[in-house]
Amino acid sequence: MAEERKTLGKVLFTEQDIIGKAEELGAQITEDYQDGDLIVVGTLKGAVMWMSELIKHIDLDLKIDFVSASSYGSGTTSSGVVKITKDLSMDIYQKDVLIVEDIIDTGTTLNYLTKSFKERGPRSVKICTMLDKPSRRRVPLAPDYKGFTVEDLFIIGYGLDYDQKYRNLPYISYLEPGDIQE
Ligand code: IMP
Ligand code: MG
Repeated sequence: MAEERKTLGKVLFTEQDIIGKAEELGAQITEDYQDGDLIVVGTLKGAVMWMSELIKHIDLDLKIDFVSASSYGSGTTSSGVVKITKDLSMDIYQKDVLIVEDIIDTGTTLNYLTKSFKERGPRSVKICTMLDKPSRRRVPLAPDYKGFTVEDLFIIGYGLDYDQKYRNLPYISYLEPGDIQE
């Protein structure tokens, strides 16, 4: 028998919480984009788990694409510099773009991505984030769809990493000093 998987950090949201939220927002997005031509754009790598849950609950003929941009090094503080390391593979001209993000922290990444996408002539650009950390915002940015609001904590799990690890945890938790022995 496999040993029970150890819980890492302090759990904020369980898998059931997250699935419930994806159902709720998915239903709302389905309604809002009835007359749309939707491309759901996930931000690699953090949004992968949330995006795959969310799109199950959007009952529309959507397309998906991915972009990779980062404002983070391997540590836990933002460098404020954004780089697109993998751009969209699709043309978004006259499409309705919904950017799906894991967490909005300073807002730097999404501010940059939104601007870059708007220059390509889409019909609309909106944001759906799993988590929002509004206390850390440096550029004004409000998500159109939001899963949960979190305090200024270092979050891991359900796509979110610490040094590229813990993305596969099936819950959202936070780390405190001493939680990880390195
Ligand atoms: P922003 O550009 O400062 O808004 O940063 C957004 C990106 O930083 C997110 O997409 C995450 O990849 C990463 N990030 C921000 N806060 C956390 C956190 O608490 N844990 C893990 N990654 C985070
Ligand atoms: Mg991210």
